[in-house]
Amino acid sequence: MSVRPINRTFSIAPMLDWTDRHYRYFARLMSSQTLLYTEMVTTGAILHGRGDYLAYNQEEHPLALQLGGSNPVDLAACAKLAAERGYDEINLNVGCPSDRVQNGRFGACLMAEPELVAECVTAMKQVVDIPVTVKTRIGIDEQDSYEFLTQFIDTVKAAGCEEFIIHARKAWLQGLSPKENREIPPLDYERVYQLKRDYPELNISINGGVKTLEECQTHLQHLDGVMVGREAYQNPYILAEVDQKLCGIDAPVMSRDAVLEKLLPYIEKHLQQGGRLNHISRHIIGLFQGEVGSRVWRRYISENAHKQGAGIEVITQARAEMDSVVSL
Ligand SMILES: Cc1cc2nc3c(=O)[nH]c(=O)nc-3n(C[C@H](O)[C@H](O)[C@H](O)COP(=O)(O)O)c2cc1C
Repeated sequence: MSVRPINRTFSIAPMLDWTDRHYRYFARLMSSQTLLYTEMVTTGAILHGRGDYLAYNQEEHPLALQLGGSNPVDLAACAKLAAERGYDEINLNVGCPSDRVQNGRFGACLMAEPELVAECVTAMKQVVDIPVTVKTRIGIDEQDSYEFLTQFIDTVKAAGCEEFIIHARKAWLQGLSPKENREIPPLDYERVYQLKRDYPELNISINGGVKTLEECQTHLQHLDGVMVGREAYQNPYILAEVDQKLCGIDAPVMSRDAVLEKLLPYIEKHLQQGGRLNHISRHIIGLFQGEVGSRVWRRYISENAHKQGAGIEVITQARAEMDSVVSL
């Protein structure tokens, strides 16, 4: 299996229920360089589930699979399957604080078990040639010192992990919902910059609260990469300038309408295969964010795309309704 080089300058965060393959296809239309991550997929789902949890569109490359789990044997089995399916990277989730994930003894609580994370990384690296990376936080609960973070990094690095994505806030394992854990613990970008200064040999991406490409440029003065989550989903058109502004690609910036135009054949194919319109349309309601008429676009899609038999005309009509607002 050949290993393709990955540009880690800009990536879209793994987001359960949001960064499914339809969203990723849509994102890829706007940026050729962005590294895309799947939603977290548990080893249990891959090994024992009934669906094909590894399915994706070839257009999505470069694409990383994020795994949730902490059993080295199971993780290695999943990593092997994923590499065979052509994924470009395997990422281990050491950042999710949800109760369900903690009950399975994975996600953020693994920060307290660096030796186990190292075992997991070793097991996966033994069976794949593609990079095995770790996405983590800067700490958990009262364990939030810089030394705690560097001990974690030292141990996992010794297992051969060379790329880390750091969500620049700690997680509280009890008392906060996953959503609150993305908002309440304060961001500490400086701590991640310090990590890069102390580990220049590692590839370190920062994550958390980044909303503009200008902010990305600032982070990139200190770090190797920036991972953006919510903003890339809620305001996806920021992706249209990633290649030009962050990756030095000299290409024209696509208009929102051109993006939509390019997506239509994909939607049509999905419908022909028996898929529902709102599987895809829900991911594009933010496309016109900030534009006149964007609320009309959003509302028309929300009210109509879920209806039985809804077709591509819902999208074209939503776009036309926007224009009628503009011309009022
Ligand atoms: C709806 C949603 C689902 C998420 N699911 C995952 C996940 O599956 N795996 C993961 O590592 N992080 C997950 N996250 C956290 C994001 O990857 C990211 O770390 C977090 O949102 C902070 O980045 P942001 O401020 O740019 O959104 C999720 C976040 C959201 C909003």
